[in-house]
Amino acid sequence: MIIANWKMNGTRQSVATWIQAVSNNINIKDVNPCIFCPPTCYLEYARRLVDENDYHIEIGSQIVNHSFEDESLTGGISTTMLKDLSVEYVLVGHSEQRNFLKESNNVITKKIEKALEDELSVIYCIGEDIDTKNKNEAYSFLSEQLDVFCQLQITHEDKLRSITVAYEPIWAIGSGLNAEKDYIEETHGFIKKYINDHLEWDKLDIYPAVLYGGSVNLNNCEEIISSTNVDGLLIGGASLNSETFSKIYNLS
Ligand code: 13P
Repeated sequence: MIIANWKMNGTRQSVATWIQAVSNNINIKDVNPCIFCPPTCYLEYARRLVDENDYHIEIGSQIVNHSFEDESLTGGISTTMLKDLSVEYVLVGHSEQRNFLKESNNVITKKIEKALEDELSVIYCIGEDIDTKNKNEAYSFLSEQLDVFCQLQITHEDKLRSITVAYEPIWAIGSGLNAEKDYIEETHGFIKKYINDHLEWDKLDIYPAVLYGGSVNLNNCEEIISSTNVDGLLIGGASLNSETFSKIYNLS
């Protein structure tokens, strides 16, 4: 799974140009979905372009709100709206949203539950900040974020299969300093083991994929994707250029 997270970038024109160029340039493999997360205001446009041209790109939302339809939330985006646009994926728990929107694990749990209930696939983002890393407390920090899964009121096997984890160390996001291969391998190994030991999903034979994100680029993507326990990439800055993103996809 290779995801382009455009964050707060782009125009209608750049969305159209990117979708066409990427669709023409990637050698799509069913086992490796290509997912485009444009800004919310371009979701419908992106969906339409993909459908009209039968492109093999899946659409993800960068945002969803957990409130229920009968609550009022100015500016809110509900899972029902995303389903209405045939959006397939949603990012939840991105560090920028945890930070700027002060999202707690409680809110994140509700978002995941609601998204899964409404048949969206969830990309659950986790990752430690630099102080936590320097204090050697990354694993306890990540454990707390992973404990969100223990709170989920969902046990239905099919729904749990729709969860992917994205490990994005905060210090690597947008800094140009990706995590080293050894660090990524160890941390992804820890994440998988923690999920295995603390959730009973392994009894259901469910092992969520774990993606890496944080300063992925054309030069480091091959090494990162070939790392043990790395099942895909979540790409910010380097996804904006269609040529770069297509090359990264094809190398993955
Ligand atoms: P960069 O690839 O720009 O570091 O961003 C990573 C990210 O936050 C993707 O969600």
